Amino acid sequence: MQAAPRHTAGTAPQVGQPHTRNDQACHDLSIRVRDLNLWYGQTQALKNLNIDLFEKNVTALIGPSGCGKSTFLRCLNRMNDLIPSVRIEGLVEMDGRDVNATRMDEVALRRRVGMVFQKPNPFPKSIYENIAYAPRMHDLVSRKAEQDELVEKALRDAGLWNEVKDKLHEPGTSLSGGQQQRLCIARAIAVQPDVILMDEPTSALDPISTATIEDLMDKLKQQFTIVTVTHNMQQAARVADYTAFFHLGEIVEYNDTKTMFSNPATKKAEDYITGRYG
Ligand SMILES: Nc1ncnc2c1ncn2[C@@H]1O[C@H](COP(=O)(O)OP(=O)(O)O)[C@@H](O)[C@H]1O
Ligand SMILES: [Mg+2]
Repeated sequence: MQAAPRHTAGTAPQVGQPHTRNDQACHDLSIRVRDLNLWYGQTQALKNLNIDLFEKNVTALIGPSGCGKSTFLRCLNRMNDLIPSVRIEGLVEMDGRDVNATRMDEVALRRRVGMVFQKPNPFPKSIYENIAYAPRMHDLVSRKAEQDELVEKALRDAGLWNEVKDKLHEPGTSLSGGQQQRLCIARAIAVQPDVILMDEPTSALDPISTATIEDLMDKLKQQFTIVTVTHNMQQAARVADYTAFFHLGEIVEYNDTKTMFSNPATKKAEDYITGRYG
């Protein structure tokens, strides 16, 4: 894999400009988005998006319903390709490679970019098979012992091993909602992706399960780049290193989370963060 460009300290983000972080540290770039536009038929859902997403950080996408957060997430693993009316223009680059290039293999891309949805969606298979299936498909494991090891590691990394180690052959759907979501995270990380996309991963969960997933995100970012959508401002403030505020298909503001929440640059972001509209 080609080395990611080194990204050094930038200026304060400006609307309509490529957004860069404004603190002094430097991070490797994972995903670079330039002039991204997307239409569903005649309706434009994403408007000239420019954003740099940093490796091994959590970036939260916030903004009112319908502003394009899920659509944007799906651009990162080409899931919009499955929707016939979609037309996309612009660049989404991952580790320096254009994900929309025709030579980019979608199966390989989706291995590198995992996804976790709002509603936990385990396969109708055992806990074990939920994890083992994709690595086997991608030829990441050959021997049974290797597969067992990988299943254990993914479940440990997802903080679920102790709860399920004695019932690996029970259906994934027999678990509680919070456990099912951690199973889906374990399934996503089992193929060793670079990026994990999460679309409101805790909004169907109770507060304790939510806290568990938030803690988990904090651990997982040591290994993975995480891009997560949330409607919960406290959650964004707790888990995200960076936050992007979407409004009507545009990224209005993007900054490190602390600055975004303590000193938003735009009135729109401030109003949203302080709950004046949603
Ligand atoms: N499959 C689709 N076909 C047509 N329009 C869609 C589709 N999915 C989303 N949209 C529209 O695109 C806009 C952005 O939606 P979405 O990305 O789901 O927003 P968010 O996740 O921020 O709530 C909305 O106006 C929505 O109605
Ligand atoms: Mg959404």
